[in-house]
Amino acid sequence: MSNILLGVTGSVAAIKTPELLTALRARGHEVRVVATRAALYFFDPTGWPDGTLVTDDDEWPRRGAGERYQREDPVLHIELRRWADALVIAPLDANTLGKLAAGLADNCLTCVARAWDVRRPVIVAPAMNTHMWEHPATRRQLAQLAADYGVPIAQENDVDAVLAATQAHRGTLTIVPPQVKELACGDVGLGAMADVEAIALAMQAALNSV
Ligand SMILES: Cc1cc2nc3c(=O)[nH]c(=O)nc-3n(C[C@H](O)[C@H](O)[C@H](O)COP(=O)(O)O)c2cc1C
Repeated sequence: MSNILLGVTGSVAAIKTPELLTALRARGHEVRVVATRAALYFFDPTGWPDGTLVTDDDEWPRRGAGERYQREDPVLHIELRRWADALVIAPLDANTLGKLAAGLADNCLTCVARAWDVRRPVIVAPAMNTHMWEHPATRRQLAQLAADYGVPIAQENDVDAVLAATQAHRGTLTIVPPQVKELACGDVGLGAMADVEAIALAMQAALNSV
């Protein structure tokens, strides 16, 4: 059994979070969810056991009450990073992809990712509108992320080449490619998050290869 941290960002595909949580747990793993503020718009965590969901408010305990950090307070993103054997970010939206590529850390999830030991598995499942997926920034940012995880990236001109290079490298970064579907906005095209089962399989394969 492994400890899996499921990062969820503000794509409409975050509605599948309960289903994905169930699928990851079905493989016998302990799973906790760290959600961005935008992600919380898309799923209802009511009934989840205490400690399953981590939000940015948990990083800054009692801040709303005007209190300050106490020396014995844990630094939650570092605790989570220590706890997790693998980080799954599904869905990975365009905004958080950009932050990961730039090394930005302005919420709990991106702080965990920024503090991550890159020798441990990271599985990301991008999900965005087709126009976002086809924008040159996606290729540039995925290539940067892949390079950070040791993937030898040449002057890759298209996103498929970055995905292929990442897959061929068989390192700790797994990119589960999006699929063609009718998207929530009504457009039909590439950009929908991979199926939950495909993400669970990718996570298990990544864990098995460490
Ligand atoms: C209804 C709705 C659906 C959205 N779906 C997506 C999406 O599928 N992919 C994406 O990249 N952004 C999507 N966005 C935009 C993100 O939520 C927005 O960029 C947000 O700032 C992301 O924040 P986060 O990366 O911290 O979660 C959506 C926004 C709304 C309001």
